[in-house]
Amino acid sequence: MPTRRTVMKAGGAVLLPAAAYATSALAAALPNERGPKPVRAEAPEPFTVRMPIPPTLKPVARTSTTDYYTMTARRASAQILHGAATEVYGYNGQFPGPTIRATAGRRVVIAQTNQLDMDTAVHLHGGHTPPASDGFPLDVIAPGATRIYEYPNRQQATTLWYHDHAHHMESEHVYRGLHGFYLIEDPAEAALGLPAGEYDVPIMLRDARFDEDGSLHFEAEDFQKRTTILTNGRTQPYFPVAARRYRFRLLNGANLRSFVLRLGAGEEVAQIGTDGGLLGAPVPTREIKLSPGERADVVLDFTGRPAGTQVILADDNAGPVLRFDVGGPAYDASRVPAVLRPLPPLGEPDVVRTFHLGIDPQDFTFKINGKAFDPNRVDTTIRRGDTEVWEVTNADTFTIPHNFHLHLVQFRVLSRNGRPPAPAEAGWKDTVPLQPGETVRLQATFAGPAGRYVYHCHLIDHSSHAMMATMEIVD
Ligand code: C2O
Ligand code: CU
Ligand code: CU
Repeated sequence: MPTRRTVMKAGGAVLLPAAAYATSALAAALPNERGPKPVRAEAPEPFTVRMPIPPTLKPVARTSTTDYYTMTARRASAQILHGAATEVYGYNGQFPGPTIRATAGRRVVIAQTNQLDMDTAVHLHGGHTPPASDGFPLDVIAPGATRIYEYPNRQQATTLWYHDHAHHMESEHVYRGLHGFYLIEDPAEAALGLPAGEYDVPIMLRDARFDEDGSLHFEAEDFQKRTTILTNGRTQPYFPVAARRYRFRLLNGANLRSFVLRLGAGEEVAQIGTDGGLLGAPVPTREIKLSPGERADVVLDFTGRPAGTQVILADDNAGPVLRFDVGGPAYDASRVPAVLRPLPPLGEPDVVRTFHLGIDPQDFTFKINGKAFDPNRVDTTIRRGDTEVWEVTNADTFTIPHNFHLHLVQFRVLSRNGRPPAPAEAGWKDTVPLQPGETVRLQATFAGPAGRYVYHCHLIDHSSHAMMATMEIVD
């Protein structure tokens, strides 16, 4: 049976009131308005939609030290599926939100207005941010209100993202679209000659579950049912590339899903960066693993491939997520130097702590060190400037993966299950995966401003409930 939409398409774009159809020949084809909605929203055929690139937001003002922006979180209608629009929550109504391009050392100030009918809070993931601007779960923006967020950007070039962090609500808010890229650039990185400008492309991967009418279905923990993968907000898009090098900043923006990505038939790609910026040297790899919140910066080289070549980026579980369609050759002065940004030596730690992430067998909630999140309790007190080693264990030894994310700092992975980290994990990180039973040792120096922050599992359906804790940096 044709849907109302297909009927309207066939009959032209004019929308008539239902009464007008009553006597028309089309009446029989129309669904009963009182019956269940017959719309069937479906993903477009694979590789028929071009991957969008979230537009870069323009500052509303610039001074010698600061770029000023405004953003509004609101409901919006996104064209994701065929057959129906999808209601999302979007920064400026965009899905994903607009990209901020910041410069290290230049301040960014964002006036965030909340036009949703519920509290929001904006967190810059990976940012070395003063506490009042970090999106602490209780520091919310009430409906209709505006809050000013200040980002000093006193950190090296890297790929960050901003997303909602309102107490208990962040998992649903992020799921519905409150997420976007925030890139920091610096002169040292620019001098390396990596692919830049239109050849430097952020890609957010995430999953979603859609109802038949095209609406986003949110149910905490229903990971198995979130079977549609969105690549910059679209299903299985294609992306035209020239036969040259590209830099892609991959972000896992999913609530629970991890990705294991491969290019073509398992081609080698160069990973150049992680959560906190460039690696010491490019790491050749055939698979890119991303747990929720992690970023991988890669250079893909299409040089020498004939026009018409198609190369698929696929996830081990979900299948193809993107197809690169190679066009003609293009002038390419970019390079991938053998040395990117040497990592500084690790200092001696002042403090060593242990953390256990796991499900409480008493009440089946996810906890850290046996405690459920309480924003009014300080779990870890840290002296400003101290270097600490955190030994973090996923105590759920059977099937439940977690990961671990620290606000305010990037850390280094000292070991994973007693062994040295893989080369790509040896760079600056702020989020690390923890398979059941795994232990990682992390080292961080808490140089940032004093105040209260959180750390948590970034499978945010877990953290939204209880798998989160607070740390206070004290002078
Ligand atoms: Cu992506 Cu608390 O963060
Ligand atoms: Cu964060
Ligand atoms: Cu978890």
